[in-house]
Amino acid sequence: MSSTKNICLIGGSGFVGTELAGQLARQGKNIRVLSRDVRKMKSLRVVPTIDVVEVDPYNVEALTAALRDQDVVINLVGILNTSVGRGGTFEDAHVGLAQNLVTACETANVSRFIQISSLKADAEDAPSEYLRSKGKATAILQASNLDLTVFCPSVIFGNGDGLFTRFANLLHAMPFMPLACADSRFAPVYVGDVAAEITKAIDDPDTTGKSYNLCGPDVFTLREIVEYTAEVLEIKRNIVGLPDAVAKIQAFFMELVPGKPFSRDNYNSLQVDSICEDCDSKMPTHVRKIVPTYLGKMNRQSRLQHYRELAGRDENA
Ligand SMILES: NC(=O)c1ccc[n+]([C@@H]2O[C@H](COP(=O)([O-])OP(=O)(O)OC[C@H]3O[C@@H](n4cnc5c(N)ncnc54)[C@H](OP(=O)(O)O)[C@@H]3O)[C@@H](O)[C@H]2O)c1
Repeated sequence: MSSTKNICLIGGSGFVGTELAGQLARQGKNIRVLSRDVRKMKSLRVVPTIDVVEVDPYNVEALTAALRDQDVVINLVGILNTSVGRGGTFEDAHVGLAQNLVTACETANVSRFIQISSLKADAEDAPSEYLRSKGKATAILQASNLDLTVFCPSVIFGNGDGLFTRFANLLHAMPFMPLACADSRFAPVYVGDVAAEITKAIDDPDTTGKSYNLCGPDVFTLREIVEYTAEVLEIKRNIVGLPDAVAKIQAFFMELVPGKPFSRDNYNSLQVDSICEDCDSKMPTHVRKIVPTYLGKMNRQSRLQHYRELAGRDENA
């Protein structure tokens, strides 16, 4: 089994990409991270084996030039909500980009490709535009001549995630938590496990042509995720499950809030449980082992300790 040297990450500046780039850098790989704006990639730019390249992924010529000399491309681009501007729709960011990447890889002679999709993505039958467009992207890549491996994770957790960290911030900010789709189920998978699976697949020819669902070992409802977050933060909040009709109205209005904290498409995604029926695909790391290591810093005792240290009154010093 020969070892791949030059690995290109697109969407590598994000939550999963940063973890993946770190794991690959520790293995001595040469990594090129493509970004639409390299200014926000301060942490990755300081690693000598990581080359950060600014590129417009919707310009196929520029994309092709950025992929020359690369052995593998890993696509981590994903959006949960639409926005105005170039690449702001699900069709552009997922489907159009997949087509651009097929063209660019063929021209630049890159044959190995790893796609990060989502659990329950399906071009035809998924309930949301997010999941359908992710499914369409996979279908485009599967129809190409690329040596393709696809990973479909459930919701991903780890330091800086959009799940526990997001609910932690909301719990701190709100006196009670109105929760849409409180009974939707997830199998949160640790970002370190996701990155490790991707890393292993790069040089494993047996993974070519295959698709892997990635789930963590525990199943949580959304309500249990919020309850557990409050437990780690050591705060008490009333969690109010919203009836469906009210949840849809909440989604409509939250779409108007800057940053779209919740949308009708998010609501639609939550109509299908994000859990693996196939037990072989369970990743090892438990939520309870990792989440306190980053959310614990946000609990009352840790914040008081932080203020004591700032004031020069560190009782543990
Ligand atoms: N996080 C999860 O819970 C989860 C669960 C299941 C599946 N996934 C999938 O895993 C992948 C990585 O997720 P993540 O959480 O790391 O995402 P992320 O933190 O939001 O990062 C995604 C990256 O995509 C690029 N990007 C964003 N919008 C774009 C657009 N409109 N056009 C082109 N590029 C754009 C950004 O890079 P630049 O701004 O540098 O260009 C960004 O760093 C995604 O495909 C996501 O769908 C994630």
